[in-house]
Amino acid sequence: MAPPGASRQQSPRLSDENTIAHQKRAAARAAAEMVSDGMRLGLGTGTTVAHLLPALAERELRNVSCVATSPATERAARALGLTVGELDELGELDLAIDGADQIGPQGWLVKGGGGAHTREKIVAAASRRFVVIASAEKAVDELTPPVPLEVMRFGVKCTLSALSPSRLRTPRQDPDPAADAPSGASSWRESPDGGLIADYLGPIGDPRELSLRLSTTPGVVGHGLFAPEMVSVILIATESGVEHRPGGKPER
Ligand code: 5RP
Repeated sequence: MAPPGASRQQSPRLSDENTIAHQKRAAARAAAEMVSDGMRLGLGTGTTVAHLLPALAERELRNVSCVATSPATERAARALGLTVGELDELGELDLAIDGADQIGPQGWLVKGGGGAHTREKIVAAASRRFVVIASAEKAVDELTPPVPLEVMRFGVKCTLSALSPSRLRTPRQDPDPAADAPSGASSWRESPDGGLIADYLGPIGDPRELSLRLSTTPGVVGHGLFAPEMVSVILIATESGVEHRPGGKPER
């Protein structure tokens, strides 16, 4: 247990880290069981997804074609013998599985700790079902900043001043140790698609209103707020097992 008054931002103690890693693995293994032969599968990014990949490989499923949301996931998946292709070649996916940074009580997610949220949102939207996997501490009573952004390099100061307070992320500030190394000589964290990763630091308030504001700010390529209607189910691993929390995505 975290000490009284501890926030998510503080580093967990070693025993907490072990519990969190154990829970991430449990949620990932439960999600791996949802995959069946012949599926077209979207793979998210991050340390929870890092537990999913070996669980999937162990199942030795036939003809599963994966799409990766980051070069780090693609490398790890290929190293385990999983087949990885391009989203535009596979078209509609049967299932996508990904982690989250925060899960709000109404089912809103904050994603993008690893800076992959733009690709993650595209892959989630291209999937008939989107399954989120998380350890228990990701379920929060209230969403808090930062909300990750991907912004265009052109006019970046104008974009960020329209969304003040916000700041560009450096590779060092990236909380995800599995994040991809920055390309080129840039001191800012870049996405593999050329955008700059930033964080909106203002209050979240109503996530739907903020989501609309972020989406309609010129220069914003993508943001890390995921609406409940994007999500089919959230698997939250707790001390007593894996809880299945339904999302609001219509079956298709
Ligand atoms: C990456 C993400 C991740 O899903 C999110 O940051 C959770 O990461 P982790 O599984 O390492 O806790 O959105 O862009």
